[in-house]
Amino acid sequence: MFPTDRPRRLRTDGVRPLVSETDLSASDLIAPVFVDATTDERVAIESMPGHERVPVREAVDRVEEVLATGVEAVMVFGIPESKDAVGSRAYAADGVVQRTVRDIVAETDAYVITDVCLCEYTAHGHCGVLEDHAEADPRLTVRNDETLDLLSETAVSHAQAGADMVAPSSMTDGMVGAIREGLDDAGFSEMPIMSYAVKYESAFYGPFRDAADGAPAFGDRRHYQMDPANRREALREARLDVEEGADVLMVKPGLPYLDIVRDVREDFDVPVAAYNVSGEYAMLHAAADRGWLDLEETAHESLLSMKRAGADLILTYFAEDIAGSL
Ligand code: PBG
Repeated sequence: MFPTDRPRRLRTDGVRPLVSETDLSASDLIAPVFVDATTDERVAIESMPGHERVPVREAVDRVEEVLATGVEAVMVFGIPESKDAVGSRAYAADGVVQRTVRDIVAETDAYVITDVCLCEYTAHGHCGVLEDHAEADPRLTVRNDETLDLLSETAVSHAQAGADMVAPSSMTDGMVGAIREGLDDAGFSEMPIMSYAVKYESAFYGPFRDAADGAPAFGDRRHYQMDPANRREALREARLDVEEGADVLMVKPGLPYLDIVRDVREDFDVPVAAYNVSGEYAMLHAAADRGWLDLEETAHESLLSMKRAGADLILTYFAEDIAGSL
């Protein structure tokens, strides 16, 4: 009898869930939240439908909304009251993230992760301290080693505010090692680091840069974020971060880089995170708005694919919308 092998036998409604290889659950998801020190009102983020920047005094409410959906972890991004050349509001004890984290930790049970970067805090919008003449000469951008001290200081200030985990995202060489040392010296040797280890210079971050007001004022991030053409280099970045003490490795963006998620999964034994970034979110919303795609189904399929590729945890703007259906 041909065909003898009939995979369709295992696709009936009854057996499908039994043989399903991958599970997506609310406990895999982290919801990004934007807290804005420049506003007293919630401000809708146009390119990310359903997301808002909230004032510090509403951060606890915002996190409660996330928790009510079954998602237990948040990633806090801050928009500071002012910006300068060295991003000093990133590591101020009374900075927007520090104040927010203190409130969230005091009043909720959320697991609080903070993004550690300078681009929202520098007037020029780059992820660190700039070389002189950077504006005139785009080949000169971020001073790597000077930036390390500021990132370390930022991470320690987040730890002192009560954050549960820090997530450095600046693609500064040595950032994980510098932050690990800073945390250990300050008495936070138990605090885990989730490194944005493999972060590409991606056009899919567009909506986020509106949301967090972190677009570079000139030039681009090619000198520190990775070339989308590279795969071997991803493993090198991941290896360096593990050697420097990363507890979780992140790959970013998610959907266009599932091969990299798989590579990192296979080569390392630490948990792997995928960041389903703002552009991936905006894309599905835009198509769904026109009636071209089903939003919930495509969002679910995207996240499931990241799990299947090997991600253990996923940062996603869909977290709250999808959690209820899992
Ligand atoms: C900060 C940071 C960015 C994102 C997360 N952290 C912006 C960037 O690197 O340009 C992007 C997240 C998203 O697009 O959802 N460096």
